[in-house]
Amino acid sequence: MRRITVIGVGYVGLVTGACFADLGNQVICLDVVPEKIEKLKRGEMPIYEPGLEEMVHRNSAAGRLAFTTNYAEAIPHAEYIFVAVGTPSGVDGEADLKYIRNAVENIAMHLDSYAIIVNRSTVPVGTGDSTAQTLIERGKKQGIDFQVVSNPEFTREGSAIYDFLNPDRVVLGSVDHEAAEAVADLYRVFTKNIMISDLRTAEMIKYASNAFLAMKISFINEIASICEKLGADVKQVAEGMGQDQRIGPAFLNAGLGFGGSCFPKDVKALTYMAEVNGLHPQLLRAVMDINRDQRLRVLVHLRELLGSLRGRTVGLLGLSFKPNTDDIREAAAIDLAHMLANEGANLRAYDPVAMENAHRQLGGVNFCNDAYEVAAGADALILVTEWNEFRQLDMPRLYAAMRRKIFLDGRNVYDPLEMRAHGFEYRGIGRPLVNIKPDEPTSKQVPAMSGAPA
Ligand SMILES: NC(=O)c1ccc[n+]([C@@H]2O[C@H](COP(=O)([O-])OP(=O)(O)OC[C@H]3O[C@@H](n4cnc5c(N)ncnc54)[C@H](O)[C@@H]3O)[C@@H](O)[C@H]2O)c1
Repeated sequence: MRRITVIGVGYVGLVTGACFADLGNQVICLDVVPEKIEKLKRGEMPIYEPGLEEMVHRNSAAGRLAFTTNYAEAIPHAEYIFVAVGTPSGVDGEADLKYIRNAVENIAMHLDSYAIIVNRSTVPVGTGDSTAQTLIERGKKQGIDFQVVSNPEFTREGSAIYDFLNPDRVVLGSVDHEAAEAVADLYRVFTKNIMISDLRTAEMIKYASNAFLAMKISFINEIASICEKLGADVKQVAEGMGQDQRIGPAFLNAGLGFGGSCFPKDVKALTYMAEVNGLHPQLLRAVMDINRDQRLRVLVHLRELLGSLRGRTVGLLGLSFKPNTDDIREAAAIDLAHMLANEGANLRAYDPVAMENAHRQLGGVNFCNDAYEVAAGADALILVTEWNEFRQLDMPRLYAAMRRKIFLDGRNVYDPLEMRAHGFEYRGIGRPLVNIKPDEPTSKQVPAMSGAPA
């Protein structure tokens, strides 16, 4: 049983705290937002994450999981202090470290015995070193009062508890191998695959991993755009590619692009880190450009089909950045809602769990109770988030409810032929716009290239 403090009760911190408590550790979670802590003390969750509520209730009741806003209560006697505060994008794309700095200052103020400060937030390379430096400047001795370990977080929102308990790997970085081993001890029950590196390498592994996954998404989205023009089906292209073990099937789903609190901000932060060091990270810039274009493609499709969008009614199915979360940060739906409103469209929307968050951020949207209510009188529906409840929609019912029968499938959930058979003007992402017959070349088809294939 270890004494663990977790700073920040967001998507990362609360899952980390609950999972460590579930293993029998004594955990106290701290946040600076009193409303979140009050809610947690009442047994209410400040975020939606499957399985979290039950785990928090069980461990709170067992006395292993407590919540506070008071650093003086949370820091003294802690053996491990996990920092899981936000690192949002600053104005130039850099990671804004104000929350990290504040947490570190508070740790320095209240530290009274040796603790390992474990950074779970995604932070620019070098942040672990500057954390140690701050503590030293506040009179703490590295190796006697504290050590710093980087422990990047790889869980996915929507399956964060499963991912925490079943990690592919755990990455730890420190100048002090013993401190890293002490953190490894907390994780050995989950996995033997624990990699220990220096601090900066561990911090970089997180950025490189997220940038690579974002790149895979932008890659398949670029292929999707080419497929659309040439009459190929990106869904099958991705399937064919993904069976190559060197490529793998994950993150090859063409769609409206990535969102969430991590990929956009982390690619931007890595780009910034490269740029301020005199580099030209062209691939990273392209990843973001393609992602932005994916949102704009929806407008192009709608304008093609409807002409002006002024006064048209457009329905959004899904608001969270992906299924099984209420997180709407950088969500495609939020970008689309702003763009469509700018074009003068009337918006209707529904999401199984993200309505409350969206309500706070979006004005002028008619929030509905389900997909069929969204469809009522709509000229076009856009499937934005592939929640399970949108995977088996009653198409005749949807069709009957709509005014104009346009269905933009932003996540390629449905079969184009079946949707057209239902009578919809259906468009997916990277799927043939019409059913092209084999003997009918597309107007833009290019002549066969000579030379050996790569
Ligand atoms: N969300 C994810 O799935 C995910 C995955 C991997 C890594 N990360 C990284 O983990 C970090 C946290 O992400 P998140 O999604 O949990 O963020 P979040 O915004 O949901 O939660 C951060 C919490 O920290 C609190 N906080 C801010 N300053 C504080 C302070 N000084 N003291 C105590 N609490 C403070 C905020 O009130 C908030 O509740 C980020 O760096 C993010 O990039 C997130």
